[in-house]
This record gives sequence, C-alpha cells and structure tokens, in this order.
Amino acid sequence: MWEKVLAMAKRRGFIWPAFDIYGGMRGFYDYGPLGAELKKNILKIWRDYYVVQEGMAEIDSPNLSPEDVFRASGHLDKFEDYMTVCEKCGSAFRADKLLNIEHADSLSADELWEEMQKEKIKCPECGGPLSKPEPFNLMFKTRIGPKGKRERVGYLRPETAQAMFMDFSYLYRYFREKLPFGAVQIGKGFRNEISPRQGLLRLREFNMAEAEVFFDPENKSWPGFDRYADDEILLLPNTGGEMRISLGKAVKKGIIKNEALAYFIGLTRDFLLKIGIDEGKLRFREHLEDEMAHYADDCWDAEVLLSYGWVEIVGIADRTDYDLKRHMEFSGERLVAMRRYDEPKEIERLEAVPDFKKLGPLFKKDAKKVAEALKSMDPSALKGAVKVKVDGKEYEVPESAYTVKKVKKKVSGEEFIPHVIEPSYGIDRILYAVLEHNYNEIEEEGETYRILSLPPSVAPIKVAVFPLMPKDGLDSMALDIYRDLLRMGFRAVYDDSGSIGRRYARMDEIGTPYCITVDYQSLEDGTVTIRMRDTKEQVRLKIHELPEKLKEMGMSGGMRG
Ligand code: ATP
Ligand code: GLY
Repeated sequence: MWEKVLAMAKRRGFIWPAFDIYGGMRGFYDYGPLGAELKKNILKIWRDYYVVQEGMAEIDSPNLSPEDVFRASGHLDKFEDYMTVCEKCGSAFRADKLLNIEHADSLSADELWEEMQKEKIKCPECGGPLSKPEPFNLMFKTRIGPKGKRERVGYLRPETAQAMFMDFSYLYRYFREKLPFGAVQIGKGFRNEISPRQGLLRLREFNMAEAEVFFDPENKSWPGFDRYADDEILLLPNTGGEMRISLGKAVKKGIIKNEALAYFIGLTRDFLLKIGIDEGKLRFREHLEDEMAHYADDCWDAEVLLSYGWVEIVGIADRTDYDLKRHMEFSGERLVAMRRYDEPKEIERLEAVPDFKKLGPLFKKDAKKVAEALKSMDPSALKGAVKVKVDGKEYEVPESAYTVKKVKKKVSGEEFIPHVIEPSYGIDRILYAVLEHNYNEIEEEGETYRILSLPPSVAPIKVAVFPLMPKDGLDSMALDIYRDLLRMGFRAVYDDSGSIGRRYARMDEIGTPYCITVDYQSLEDGTVTIRMRDTKEQVRLKIHELPEKLKEMGMSGGMRG
C-alpha cells in the first residue's frame, strides 16, 4: 500500500524527494504545494487544540544550539542507536531494526549481537557479514563562529523541547507564577538516522510539534480532565494485555499513572481523529521500563496501523524534573517554582553566611551575586571549597569565605522543581498516516479510480471551479467565481482542461471535498452545481449562495492562519 500512496503523493505534488536532480539523499523530502498546504492545515488544527483551547504559549527558538545544552540534556551521552556495518559492501543499519523480535530497541549492544547471531542476520543489501553493533550518536555536529578562539561546537537540535526548559523562568513569570502551564513549539528536529528507508517515517530533518506542560509534582491532576474522562480508548499497558477502557477508569485503576498523562492521551486521540486518522487503526501503548528515553519516567505512544506495521506517531512522556534539574546543575541558574503558603511560616534552616571581607577582593563586582548563590545552596553541599555559578561563570569559593549557621526566617512558601509532561508529535509521520488512512482505490471499467477522503478541514484544496467547456462564456463566468472565492479566503483552484469526469477524478485523488461546475444553464439563471466528493451528490444553487453553502459544509472562508 505505501508504494501506491507515495507514488500518488509524488505525482500530485504532496511530497518529492529532496535534492532529486543530484540523485536525492535518504531521509530528506520536500513538501510540494499540496503537501505544504496539508501540513499547514494539520498544524493549524494542532494550534487550535494546544494554543487556542488549552491557552498554552507558543515560542520559537533556534535550530542550532551550543554543546552545553546537550551535555546538560543528556543527549550528548545517551542519544544513540546501535549501528551494524556490512563488512562486504559497507552499508550501515540500525541493529535493532534487523531483528524479528519485539522491542529490540531496548536491547544492549551485547544482547543485540547475541540475537543477530542467533537469527543469523546478514546484510539486507548484499548478504555479507555484519559487524558487532556499536553506539552511534544521532545528533548532527557543527561549528558555530569563525575558526579560532571564538569557535564553538554546536549541534542541530534533535527535539524542540530543550528551549522550553531553558526558558522556564521567563515562561513562569509570563504565566504569573502559576502552575500548571504549558509552552509549545513547532519546528524542525534533526537526527542523523543510521538508515532511513521508510519514506516520511524516518527522516533526518523532520517537523515536530511539542508541548511541555509544567506541574507541581504533588498535583498532576488536570483542571479540564472531564472533557475526555469518558472516552473509551484502546490501551496497551506495559504490564501486558490490551484493553478498551475509559480514561477516567484507567486513572482510577492506576493503569495510567495520573490525570495529566491521561488527559493528553485523550486530547491526542481527539486531534488525530479530527485530522482523519482511522480510529480502528489507533492505539496507545505504554513503553516498557527499559524502552524509555533517558529522561522519561513513563511514556505512552500513540501508534497507528500502517502498511509498514504499527508505527509511533506521538509520544506522551512524563519527563519528571529531569530536564530542569540537569539545566540547573549545568548552568547554575535556578529553575524553580514556588509553592505559596496560606500564611507566612517561620522556619529554621542551615544557610551559608558569606564573609564579604573575603568575597569582595576575590570576586570584585560579582561578590554580591556569589554571596546570593552561596545562600541559596543546598546546605548539605556546603562543605569545604564550593563551586558556584554566576551568569554562566564558575567561581570557587574557599572554605574561609563563609560559615554555615542555623538561621530563622519568615518564608511565604517553598521552592520546588516542577515536573513536565510532554506530548511530542511527529508531524511528517502523522501527515503520512493521514494520507494512507484516507487513500482508497476503486477499480472501474479496467481503470483505477483514487479517492482521498480527507476531512474538509485538512484538505489542501477546498473547492475546485470548472466550466463545463472552456468556451461560450462558461470559462469567464467560472473564472469570476474562482477569483471571488479566492478573495473570500477559500483555497480554490480553477481547471478547464480535459473532460469533466477527468477533472472530478483529479480532485477526488487529492481529496478536494467540493467541485463547482458552470454549465449552459448557469448562463441563463445564474445557478451552478456543487458536487460532493464522498457522495458524488450534486446540488444546484445560486452563485451568491455559494459562500454560505460552503461554510455550512464545514469550509472556513476568510483569512486562515
Ligand atoms: P523511533 O523509535 O521510531 O526512532 P523515537 O522513539 O526516537 O522514534 P521520539 O524520540 O519519541 O521517537 O520522537 C517523537 C516523535 O517524533 C515520534 O513520535 C515520531 O513521530 C517523530 N520522529 C522521531 N524520529 C523521527 C524521524 N527520524 N523522522 C520522522 N519523525 C520522527
Ligand atoms: N521530545 C521528545 C523526543 O524527542 O522524543
């Protein structure tokens, strides 16, 4: 099936292999005019859910980051797959993908090697012997700045998430210091995938839409949970088995650990069904303990059934306080929130008391900031010479420059590191799944008739305008209607070449829900026909009634985002 979908997508201008005139390159695709429009429509609906309905804040940050970011995030050490190389032809493969067992991606190098030998795996390209798997970091490395002292190592981001963590304090202030709140980002992710071979499913540069939702760890309930509590969903928990159960019950029974995770499973399902994913081919699977990413404590994937098998398209992970904690540790900045008490409390705690006579000469203009950093340190770390970070610079404070004392303080609340629930959407995989789930072929009189049953809201072209014949004034009337529709904000096309049947067929194949035809009767009484893609029904109506009718059928006119 995927061959047919990709052939149609290429022929009609949804997706084209990138760099094609130079022979192309695996893992890179261009979206053609229809693909770019489809992607835009999917993202518009995604924003409707996350930004408009949930009130999350959208940010937009650089693709390229300095090395420090990924040292802190753990990607430098842990973001790797195991690679095996053919000793005869030199082709490289992801070792886990060659095995015929489930969850091979959770195996270690030794376990993979053992399994490869057991299954007698040979090079899929030439049948040659394969090497023992070795870890391969998936990040693209580059240089930032000119050669020399100022040059720094940089990486293209493998996920958009890190910016939301690094901007936590700005976001916290933006949301008036109240949790929970969410920040989202839509942008590119880059991964130097070892052997991308599955069309849009495994790209080296891909489109992500991610939300990072910050919580007080003591309260992972979600204010609007009722919205999805009764939705029955197909779940595969990591304790085994498969069940159809309401989200409310799944939380009560502890199958899903908290309301927040369950809510975003419900929202994800709602969104996916809205853009045309087939409910019968959608499930949510919990990761096994050893399958989880290095930052996750729990993770549920939305998986869809495609002609390639079950494929993950969205990951919903509980990242706990992992990322904020790591960025605090590596940057020295405090990335914390405040749990306010109803009444201020007097507490006694151990704290560093800085000696300014020593700090002054040592740290000059930064002495005050060093003192503040010392005071806010965890008292258990106050032993001997200690390191503090101030504005990205690290200073060592000698033992003689501070003492540790019990101090009494009036405090209005306590600090804590928020936890994060992250719904992460792979837009290219989603877009491909929408194409495959809506692709239909009918054999008619020896010919293949193709219909793409896209929901009108995601269809790249909403309405086509045809003159029955390109003559006798039918064409100029149709062109007037077409231009009026464009001006009203409807994504429309005009087509007057070939038989009317062929023109309908071309529109059915790209999923256009409505076609308007101008015929000889139009010249007499100012009416046109409007044909529905799915029922083939045709209705005759006055030209001036068209915009209203289109709106009634779910089309939006006006400026679209
Ligand atoms: P896989 O195990 O298939 O490599 P992953 O578990 O690494 O995927 P995540 O890290 O959870 O994927 O990424 C979040 C989402 O981004 C995925 O659900 C998927 O839709 C998408 N994604 C990840 N890698 C790619 C890729 N190489 N090409 C296209 N989309 C991707
Ligand atoms: N940010 C989630 C992921 O990259 O998997």
